[in-house]
Amino acid sequence: MARLPQSFLDDLLDRVDIVEVVDRRVKLKKAGKNYSACCPFHDERTPSFSVNPERQFYYCFGCGAGGNALGFIMDYERLDFREAVEGLAHSVGLEIPQDDPRGGNEPSREQNKPLYDTLERASKFYEHALRQHPERHTVVKYLKGRGLTGEIARDFRVGFAPPGWGNLLQANGADETDQALLMRSGMLVKNDKGRIYDRFRERVVFPIQDQRGRVIAFGGRVLGDDKPKYLNSPETPVFQKSRELYGLWQARKHPRRIERIVVVEGYMDVIALAQHGIPYAVATLGTSTSETHLERLFRIVSEVVFCFDGDEAGRKAAFRGLEATLPAMQDGRQAKFLFLPDGEDPDTVVRAKGAAYLENLFDHADPLETFLFKHLAEGLDLESMDGRARFSKLAAPHLHRLPEGVFKTLMYQALAEQTGIDVDSLKRLQPPPAPRPEPAERAASAPEAPPPMDPDEPPPEAFLPPDDPEISSLSPSSRNPLHRLLGLLLLKPTLVVHVPSGLLGDEGSRDVTLLSEVVAHIRQSPEVTTAALMGFWFGTPEGDFLSALAGRETIEDDAGLEALCLALIDKLSRHPALDAARQQFEALKRKPYGELSQEEKQSLLSLTQEIRTLSGRS
Ligand code: UTP
Ligand code: MN
Repeated sequence: MARLPQSFLDDLLDRVDIVEVVDRRVKLKKAGKNYSACCPFHDERTPSFSVNPERQFYYCFGCGAGGNALGFIMDYERLDFREAVEGLAHSVGLEIPQDDPRGGNEPSREQNKPLYDTLERASKFYEHALRQHPERHTVVKYLKGRGLTGEIARDFRVGFAPPGWGNLLQANGADETDQALLMRSGMLVKNDKGRIYDRFRERVVFPIQDQRGRVIAFGGRVLGDDKPKYLNSPETPVFQKSRELYGLWQARKHPRRIERIVVVEGYMDVIALAQHGIPYAVATLGTSTSETHLERLFRIVSEVVFCFDGDEAGRKAAFRGLEATLPAMQDGRQAKFLFLPDGEDPDTVVRAKGAAYLENLFDHADPLETFLFKHLAEGLDLESMDGRARFSKLAAPHLHRLPEGVFKTLMYQALAEQTGIDVDSLKRLQPPPAPRPEPAERAASAPEAPPPMDPDEPPPEAFLPPDDPEISSLSPSSRNPLHRLLGLLLLKPTLVVHVPSGLLGDEGSRDVTLLSEVVAHIRQSPEVTTAALMGFWFGTPEGDFLSALAGRETIEDDAGLEALCLALIDKLSRHPALDAARQQFEALKRKPYGELSQEEKQSLLSLTQEIRTLSGRS
């Protein structure tokens, strides 16, 4: 966004009193020189949130949130910087200066305003078609058949994209500007020949609304059995899949105060649940659940239930949800996991058995610890010592990612009980070494062909004595661990969740730079596929290098890849990691808390943890 002059911001902060700003939203109690309250940013019973009038600063000893009045408003009201400034300036009667021509580079709300307007108009068009279009009857019949009332369709602004290639284009794309906006908002598609047409055709459409109720994208379902069943808007300047959740707007504005949120897989699940009196379901938008999603949810409620299919895909999705949940599991928060029988989803269950039945399932869903331990123990024999050792090594890294607190302590204790390994040893456990084939298998299987040699790499395992425990076929010590990590990330980009921020510090070598570029790229588009990554670097020397690296890795099962990845990261992180983490931490601390992005705040928290772990203090 266009940058506001510092003098204006100073002036603004001069005129507001943080005590007043906070107190208007969270009742403060005087405590010595300071004021205190129960922290609005995490769930707690004894106040650890404190406001310092002298320094015009707030801080929470429980969750580490802190900043000035602006930061508080941004976090509390979930506003962006510009909006918070506007609100605050308005409250003290200050005029916001005209945009500084030097400008920033973030797109501003004003810049996006036409996009929001375009999307709103598109939604109105579809809603109107559901009521007026000559072919609406099939759709209405379809929706009725799925048990929806007109009322719930109105609440969710369900619409109808009529058959035909240019309905929206003709109705809302009067001139080139409008067409360009429709294009930028993802509503139109341009084919190879340059022809432009409606993205959503002959579908029921579900507008996706942001936290303020603005339409930012759509999902569309076919009426019959055509493929793809659902079509979603692409990411646009106003729509980021890893942030948004379908149904969250409706859940928040529901008159009943919601105490928990259920994450389900589909649009229709959200709507069917609302229809049956469960107004607190949300769905991710064809992506896995992200840390941002969870942070967002836990700011609203203290209990999140994941309700997924019981099949393989559902379990995988749930485990990714669990991984995204770990860093958010502050004391007082609860995450649960519910798997429905094969072939069922929340929509079918609520219609067949009713809300009470389903809510009872939510009540008794597996708590996070149960699901985590169950999932990791799969295929392991916990009766055997070896099984328990493996189990502890798989589980410990997940526990490391929990924020400090009683829950974390209890988790370590539970793991200690299950494995017979004491808590201190578990805490010292580094991420697991790569799994190795069983001795019997190793003897039976033919020696692996050595990977292509690189002159500046240590010799591959085939050149070393075969019985050294460090050099099994998967041992990360056998080749440059940085190269191997790059290869793995390319093969399975979701492994990026294991890469700690600042893994290698800012050691500037070409490889390190490439690693941070790859990591950044994946973090930015968590959905990215191997092909897309290759595509991104295609035709560059980096691209050739990356595809060579990926080509050298044998594709193991997911657990194998994950374990190998953790082992490599462990190796890489031992020396430079602590330094790097400290440096990053210091750099972030230098910025005013209020100016940190959500990601930066998150990484501050995780850096604290990381530093603790690395320096053996966790
Ligand atoms: P499901 O295939 O489980 O469909 O997809 P559903 O929600 O049960 O749909 P109905 O009941 O047949 O209408 C779950 C979610 O996955 C995404 C959508 O967000 C969908 O709601 N999805 C599914 C897609 O994005 N594209 C698809 O082709 C299918
Ligand atoms: Mn369904």
